[in-house]
Amino acid sequence: MQVFELLRHGTTGNDWALDGLNIYASVADAVHAEECNDSVHVFYPEKLADKAARFLNGFRGTNLYAVKANPHPVILKSLWNAGVRDFDVASLREVELVANTLPGANLYFMHPVKSRQAIRYAYAMGVRAFSFDSLDELIKIEEETSYATDLKLFLRLGVSVKGAAYELTGKFGAPLDLAPLMLQRARLSAQRLGVCFHVGSQCMRPEAFADAIGQAAAAAKAAGVTLDVIDVGGGFPVAYPGMEPPALEEYFRVIHAALDANGFADTATLCEPGRALVAEAGAVAARIELRKGEELYLNDGTYGALFDAGVPEWPFPLDLIASDDRAMSQEVIGYRAYGPTCDSCDKMAGPFPLPADVREGDWVVFEHLGAYGISMQARFNGFYSETMVAVTGK
Ligand SMILES: Cc1ncc(COP(=O)(O)O)c(C=O)c1O
Repeated sequence: MQVFELLRHGTTGNDWALDGLNIYASVADAVHAEECNDSVHVFYPEKLADKAARFLNGFRGTNLYAVKANPHPVILKSLWNAGVRDFDVASLREVELVANTLPGANLYFMHPVKSRQAIRYAYAMGVRAFSFDSLDELIKIEEETSYATDLKLFLRLGVSVKGAAYELTGKFGAPLDLAPLMLQRARLSAQRLGVCFHVGSQCMRPEAFADAIGQAAAAAKAAGVTLDVIDVGGGFPVAYPGMEPPALEEYFRVIHAALDANGFADTATLCEPGRALVAEAGAVAARIELRKGEELYLNDGTYGALFDAGVPEWPFPLDLIASDDRAMSQEVIGYRAYGPTCDSCDKMAGPFPLPADVREGDWVVFEHLGAYGISMQARFNGFYSETMVAVTGK
């Protein structure tokens, strides 16, 4: 959206945020009315507003939304309406997307490996916060910003913690023994110096954040530098079948206590929630195109919004919407499923517990897929969905 359009519509209000989405009272109403050939992305605006309020009221620092979790403009605008002003972006496209959709947003380029062009363009577009996990990346940032003196530099630490259902260690993060040297070096060019880390996605133990904060404090102490800011990253969980994490507020309590205990009581603090902000605010409704015994062929799959259902075999709460008004069987079967592409990787082991009499034309609703659903969609074989609806009153 262009700036003039934004000004014309204003930057608040449901009309602006929902941007012409059809609005329904239930997912069943939506899939029946849309008569869509593709799967349907469902957005629950009230759930997003509630979750954003819990972060904004409960976490004592600044909340950066991790755009990768769901970059749809409707989500970005709805978060803006809820009061989120800060965004963690991972690529130049995400920089452009957020800058164009929300011209007043503060952007943090928190991918520890960026191209030179991305650093240069992002800086020219006003981005000042960058992360790095090696001296070579730090030097790239310095060179491509012409040794700017207004940089906020975050060393991504390779913290050693346990408790995440989806580990993010291994690929990124400075080794803890090298971190002090990197902090000393970055102090020379940073206007504001910080550390960041990621305890892993869907972190089931609040104490993992406390452990990571302790490791960050130890690195800063060994370096003899004062940190201006500490970014505790993403990883906040939501409830999925078989995964019942402690309440979000318990995570905030543990994090705040660990910050105080490690000498960060007056240090600016950030977090970067993705999943926990948006997962419950979305669902994906996929239609059964064919049933073969206990195998269902769906119109969405691992090359689409159901990547997480198929590849890491993530368990989602399910609903079944019948294509007609028949009473569904009480007997439940654990189904396997296939996505629509011709690739044999496009399969989902499940088992997906659904009524014994599901049939072609019924819709399987994967709830809590507001995160890492639409953002994972490829266009392989021409199967992808651009249909998003809002379901209100939930
Ligand atoms: C740098 C960074 N920040 C935040 C997030 C969001 O994590 P989550 O969705 O687990 O909250 C990720 C996810 O990969 C990430 O890489």
